Amino acid sequence: MRKLQILAWISGKCLWISALAITVVLLGALSKSSTNRVISNKINVFDDIQLPMRVPLKGNGYPPILAYWICGTNGDIKKMLRLLKAIYHPRNQYLLQLDADSSDYEREELAVSVESDRVFRSFGNVNVVGKSYAINQMGGSAVAATLHAAALLLKLSIGWDWFITLSASDYPLMTQDDLLHAFTFLPRNLNFILYNRTRWKERQEINRVVVDPSLYLQKSAPIMYAVETRENPDAFNVFGGSPWVILTRDFMEYCVKAWDNFPRKLLMYHSNMINPLESYFHTVLCNSPPDLQSTIINNHLRYIVWGSSTDGEPQFLTMSNFEQMLESKAAFARPFREDDPVLDDIDESVINRPPGGFVPGEWCSRHGKNNKSFENGTEADNEEFCGSWSNINSVKPGTQGIKLRILLSKLAADVGKKRSNQCQNQMVN
Ligand SMILES: *[C@@H]1O[C@H](CO)[C@@H](O)[C@H](O)[C@H]1NC(C)=O
Ligand SMILES: *[C@@H]1O[C@H](CO)[C@@H](O)[C@H](O)[C@H]1NC(C)=O
Repeated sequence: MRKLQILAWISGKCLWISALAITVVLLGALSKSSTNRVISNKINVFDDIQLPMRVPLKGNGYPPILAYWICGTNGDIKKMLRLLKAIYHPRNQYLLQLDADSSDYEREELAVSVESDRVFRSFGNVNVVGKSYAINQMGGSAVAATLHAAALLLKLSIGWDWFITLSASDYPLMTQDDLLHAFTFLPRNLNFILYNRTRWKERQEINRVVVDPSLYLQKSAPIMYAVETRENPDAFNVFGGSPWVILTRDFMEYCVKAWDNFPRKLLMYHSNMINPLESYFHTVLCNSPPDLQSTIINNHLRYIVWGSSTDGEPQFLTMSNFEQMLESKAAFARPFREDDPVLDDIDESVINRPPGGFVPGEWCSRHGKNNKSFENGTEADNEEFCGSWSNINSVKPGTQGIKLRILLSKLAADVGKKRSNQCQNQMVN
């Protein structure tokens, strides 16, 4: 009953939004029975705005299209919107999700914030998951949520090349022009995933059995540890490493659709493992046919300082990490606290993002108003700032982008040489 009222309330809000002629894309939230009905009532009243290059061109020489999933929880809206603006590019797809520990009100607020931004509205490439559920990062519910996000993105857009997972505590270390430039020259079949046998062994015991109550309770709950253990698998080998990945569209389809039964079987096996997100994709890839194994780049392109504490959780990054972060050539770093001063430094001296605004690039040039006006960071300034949209099919890299391109082409060349060893050395069982 309560659920129905909330749904009705959200629907009511959406009517209100439609009345204001705003594009609304709320996934799932509007239908009381459906499993993930994608609802998209786009009302285009912005035909007066000149958007010469609105549809991303694909193919030889054009930058790829990235599909971002940003997952957060209660209290994460501000961080999420800041991150979204820092990684926004009209070519890409963005899916935002707040788990069940956030309120319906928060999820609504997030959707309205997205809808009320002229840029997001005009390009229509930011979507919010309306129907929420519990997610425990340490349990099977986190793998389920990741696969769900990939499935939604596959359904929402046919064009993207890579799926990138981020949390609300992440931040970029380069502009999207940089990142898209670096990826332009890569074969589109490479999967970026970090294997780390040492870390995996420190954090989990392979035959320990756990239950993730977030798979069947409305709110997330702590993992339950069984007294009984299970045998090591002998039908496949287990692999592990960082939970943060950049995976190809083909590979996500392979995992989501699972016409080969292995990804599905492994999903069931991982639902009783602790920290399965640190192992699921690693294990699927390394037990797959050689042509899929040879797509692995053993790098997650993130800057993370793994904690020395026993729980192995990463340390919060601050100003003291600034230099090292940039030297790392990573595309993203994590985790940051909300509004940590180091984020302002990244905005100012790395990605050139004005407060509250978008990162300038080939699509959104900095002419228009004088620079000073961005200091207040008001919406009006942003509009002026991105007032002259231009080509979304070309990017102009800075030094970070050029460095990353060189690193990636080296990594891609190495992959060709190593092939089989890649997985052999990383086996856990
Ligand atoms: C692998 O994990 C260990 C232990 O947590 C850590 O010290 C090391 O830096 C990690 N290696 C990489 C490449 O992240
Ligand atoms: C904005 O400021 C930067 C340096 O502060 C300058 O290089 C750039 O030309 C300015 N842009 C405009 C449009 O005034």
